[in-house]
Amino acid sequence: MAGLGVNIDHVATVRQARMTVEPDPVWAAAEAQLGGADCITFHLRKDRRHICDRDAKLLKQTVTCKLNMEMSLDPEIVEIAVALAPTQATLVPENRREITTEGGLDVVAHADRVTEVSRALRDAGVIVSAFIDPVGEQILAARDAGCEAIEIHTGAYANASLGPPGANPDPRKIDTTIAEIRTALQDGIDAGLIVHAGHGLTYTNIAPVASMEGFREFNIGHSIIARAIFTGLRRAVAKMKHLVA
Ligand code: PXP
Repeated sequence: MAGLGVNIDHVATVRQARMTVEPDPVWAAAEAQLGGADCITFHLRKDRRHICDRDAKLLKQTVTCKLNMEMSLDPEIVEIAVALAPTQATLVPENRREITTEGGLDVVAHADRVTEVSRALRDAGVIVSAFIDPVGEQILAARDAGCEAIEIHTGAYANASLGPPGANPDPRKIDTTIAEIRTALQDGIDAGLIVHAGHGLTYTNIAPVASMEGFREFNIGHSIIARAIFTGLRRAVAKMKHLVA
């Protein structure tokens, strides 16, 4: 059965909109766990636009389920991750101008650096995952670079399920992107990797992905935090947990 990783970054996004102390993502982590989260995910970005160093330290001290840190290959962030030693680190690309993580990490192009970073993290006892597009050569490169896990980027499917602005979704695009995810899942399992999925997954588009056998974790942020504004985080997490179980 797949676990639910709840990404709490956007609680910190609201806090940072006023540069104040509330809402606290550490409180959000507690609420998410009470709602059934199997994993708390956060991204400590170089620009600290949402989660900051204080949050990372307190999350490490207080989260009692799996703690997953999304991180770039930047030396400063790697040093923090090694010292923090979360349960898992997910290596992601990072670009200052992006609204959220765009595209998977190009492990083929950055194989030497990924190998170096994954070794440092593994030596600190951290499970290393790489966030990659559903592409065969990226899966093999992640394995060869020492990653134990991959997170398949589901953004193309998420965009297809939404459709272009003002138009209906194209069912052929949905089918193609779902087929890519299914193939990548199987390729990852065949390569001996633990396979996760995430990005753009919502209450309405999760079903076809959640029904695939073999995923071990779904990392979901925006949709859960958006719903939590209306229902509270505990209920929002419990509802998504029901959908991925
Ligand atoms: N997985 C990874 C690697 C991400 O970078 C993000 C976004 O921070 C997510 C999952 C969650 O994406 P969303 O907020 O669209 O659910």
